[in-house]
Amino acid sequence: MVLDCDPGHDDAMALLLAVADPGVELLGVTTVAGNQTVEKCTVNARRVLSLAGVSDVPVARGADRPLVRPLRIADDVHGETGLDGPLFDGDPEVPEAATTAAELMVDVLAKRHEPVTIVATGALTNIATLLADRPDLHANIEQIVWMGGSTERGNVTPYAEANCFVDPEAADQVLRSGVPFTMCGLNVTHQALVTDDVLAAFAGIGTPLARICVEWMTFFASTYRRLWGFTAPPLHDPVAVARVIDPAIVRCVDANVVIETAGEWTAGATVVDLHQYTGRPATARVAVELDTTAYWTKLVDAIARID
Ligand code: BDR
Ligand code: CA
Repeated sequence: MVLDCDPGHDDAMALLLAVADPGVELLGVTTVAGNQTVEKCTVNARRVLSLAGVSDVPVARGADRPLVRPLRIADDVHGETGLDGPLFDGDPEVPEAATTAAELMVDVLAKRHEPVTIVATGALTNIATLLADRPDLHANIEQIVWMGGSTERGNVTPYAEANCFVDPEAADQVLRSGVPFTMCGLNVTHQALVTDDVLAAFAGIGTPLARICVEWMTFFASTYRRLWGFTAPPLHDPVAVARVIDPAIVRCVDANVVIETAGEWTAGATVVDLHQYTGRPATARVAVELDTTAYWTKLVDAIARID
C-alpha cells in the first residue's frame, strides 16, 4: 500500500496501523496539504515514522494546494503544528525523500509486479494529478480507499466533509477515473469513537509510543468536544487502512457517488445514491458499517507491536 495523508492526529494513527499491522506492506508515504500546510504535514509524517522506528519507507511531499481552490487548513482541529499535543525536540530522524509524491507514486506503481492499493486520508489532490498525468498506470492500481465524504451530512459545512471540501474537483476527477474506489465517510468513521475504554486500552500498552498516541487522542478529544460537542472523538483515518487489512471490519455497499463541485451552498458534498433513486450505475464501494471491536483490536495490537 501507499498511504497518501495529511497528518493530522487520525492520520498519525492510520500511519502507525499501516506500519505495524502484519497484513500491510507499506511501500511509501506521500503527503498533501489539508489539515495543515504540506510542509507541516510532511514533518509530521516523518515524525510518526521516526517514533515508530521505521527508516525504510520513503516519505515524499505532495501538493501544497488544491487543484483550483485556495487551501483551507484545519488548524482549529489539529492545532498549529497539525499534530498538537506532545512536544518534540528537533527535526525527525526520518528524512524527506528527494522525490516528489507524484514521482514516488509513479515509481512504486511502475516497478511493482502486482497492483498496488492507494489509501488516501486527506484531500485527493495528489491522486487526481497522478491519474490525469499517467493513465497508463491506472491498471497498476488495485484500488483507492479514501477516508472522506459522507452518506449523511458534513463536518465543515452542512453537507461537506473536510477531505472532500478541501479539494472537490480532485475527488470528482478520481471518481470519474474508473479506478476501483472505496469511500469510508463520516457515516462510518463516526462509529470509531475513542471512548474512555478505548483510551485505557492504549494506555495499558505502556510503551512511550502508546503514551504519545494517548496524548494525541486526548488533544483530538479536546477539539472535538469544543467544536462539535462530541463526548468521544471519531478516529476517522485508520478506518480506510483497516478496510484494506480486513474488508470484513468495514462493510461496504456499491452505490453511485458523485461530487458536488458547483453548488453555491453544497460544494464538496458527496451525493451517495444508496437507494438507487437515480438509476445511475455504481461508481464506488461505500462504507456503511464498522465492526468497532475488531477495529480497536487491530489498532491496539498494532501499537503494541511497536517497541
Ligand atoms: C478528515 O479530516 C481531517 O481533519 C481528518 O484527518 C480526516 O482525514 C475527517 O473529516
Ligand atoms: Ca486526514
